[in-house]
Amino acid sequence: MIVEAIAADLTDPRERALVELRLTDPDRPVELLVNNAGTECPEVFGAAALDSLLYEVDLNIVALMCLTRAALPDMTARGRGAVINVASFAGYLPPGGCAYGASKAWVLTFTDTVAASLSGTGVRMLAVCAGRIRNEATSAPERSPLWLTPEQVVRSSMIDLAKGRTLSTPGWLYRGLVSVLESPRSALRLAAAAAGRGRERCARLPDS
Ligand SMILES: NC(=O)c1ccc[n+]([C@@H]2O[C@H](COP(=O)([O-])OP(=O)(O)OC[C@H]3O[C@@H](n4cnc5c(N)ncnc54)[C@H](OP(=O)(O)O)[C@@H]3O)[C@@H](O)[C@H]2O)c1
Repeated sequence: MIVEAIAADLTDPRERALVELRLTDPDRPVELLVNNAGTECPEVFGAAALDSLLYEVDLNIVALMCLTRAALPDMTARGRGAVINVASFAGYLPPGGCAYGASKAWVLTFTDTVAASLSGTGVRMLAVCAGRIRNEATSAPERSPLWLTPEQVVRSSMIDLAKGRTLSTPGWLYRGLVSVLESPRSALRLAAAAAGRGRERCARLPDS
């Protein structure tokens, strides 16, 4: 796999456009787009500067949507390719008072919606719902199911992508929590599917 680095501030529309252009180049097809860039405005909503909040929305939402939109036409034309959107467990249980969780909830719903529209195209889309990830800067306890390693997150995401899943939740603790939080949504999806099948049956009934 060839990994290409392009330096760009994805919140700047002109710099973002250069990355979008690269993604649409049919002579150099992109197999996998990972929308990882993200930021968290640390202040509570009421105390945050408008510029910081808009920066968060531009990076976590607008850039992710624009890059996905740029990458998909070529992928669907080739019948292969994948997009991984890095969301967060905060999309399910937002941390107090800031807008980060809302932006990640958007990523989860966006991925769900677009993945459904890609059914049968050969192109896959996955949201990664990661909990806390340790890095050199974090002083996380050595052994705690709350803390994931970057390797754990990547391995779990690639396995779930290969299985054709649209959501990957690395780590048993977060997986358990998400399955509980997801169950009302799953029930609604099943009910909607059943209602759809019912409507199809009614439509097929001969006129009496
Ligand atoms: N850390 C966690 O515990 C955790 C948990 C769940 C989800 N996440 C998500 O994982 C992703 C990565 O987070 P991280 O913890 O690795 O954060 P990080 O260390 O702050 O890295 C952020 C990444 O986004 C890039 N970036 C930031 N602003 C950008 C901009 N304006 N234009 C282009 N790229 C920009 C950075 O690039 P440069 O290095 O070039 O600045 C860096 O690669 C984010 O989407 C985050 O929400 C993190």
